[in-house]
Amino acid sequence: MPPHEAEVFFLTKNFGKFKEASAVLSRFGIRVLRMSEDRVEIQSDDLCEISKFSSLEASKAHGVPLIAEDAGLFVYSLRGFPGPYSSYAFRTIGVRGLLKLLEGVVDRRAEFKSAVSFCAPGLDPLCFLGIARGRISEEARGSQGFGFDPIFIPDGGGERTFAEMGLEEKNKYSHRAKALEKFARWFKGEKWPLNSDADRSEAE
Ligand code: IMP
Repeated sequence: MPPHEAEVFFLTKNFGKFKEASAVLSRFGIRVLRMSEDRVEIQSDDLCEISKFSSLEASKAHGVPLIAEDAGLFVYSLRGFPGPYSSYAFRTIGVRGLLKLLEGVVDRRAEFKSAVSFCAPGLDPLCFLGIARGRISEEARGSQGFGFDPIFIPDGGGERTFAEMGLEEKNKYSHRAKALEKFARWFKGEKWPLNSDADRSEAE
C-alpha cells in the first residue's frame, strides 16, 4: 500500500460506504477522512445532480475539499425503481419488500449506480459515475455490507450476492469502487491548487 500523499473528506453517515471508499482510495495513496453529518439533498432523478449539490454545500460550509456520494439500485423490470429513491425504499419496504415486488418476475436484471462528486472551495463540483450490472436474487443471502447487498448478484461474481463477499471482493465489482477509481485517477493527476480550467474530460 503506498504511503498517503493526499487527503480528502468523505461526507457520509454510512460507515459501510466509508470503509469501501478508504480501501479503494488508499490504493491510490489517498487518505479518506470521514465527515459524518447529514448532507443537503435535493430531489432529482439524476444522482449526479444530487451528489454535486451535497458536495457544493458541504464544501462551502466547511471550506475543505471533499467528496459526497449518491447511490441507487435500478431494477429493470420495475422501470428503474427505486433508483434515486433507494434510501427511502430501503427504509420503508426494505429488502423483503423489494423481493416481494419481484415475486414471479423472470427478468431480474438490475444495476447499482454511484455518483461521487468532488468539490473544493471556489470550484464547481465534478461528478464521477460508476455502474455495477447484475441481478436481484430470489432470496436474501449473506450478512456483510449494507442496504440491498443481500439481494444483489453482480455480473462476473458467480452466484454470490454482495453481502456474501468481503469488502475487497465487493470492491472488485461495485458501482462505488468504479466511481471512486475514476475520481482517484483524476484527483491524482491534478495540479494543486486547482484552477477553474482544470481538465474535466474524465468526469461524467
Ligand atoms: P444513498 O442515498 O446514496 O445513501 O443510497 C441510497 C440507498 O441505496 C441506500 O440506503 C442503500 O439502501 C442503497 N445502496 C446504495 N449503495 C449500496 C450498496 O453498495 N449496497 C447496498 N445498497 C446500497
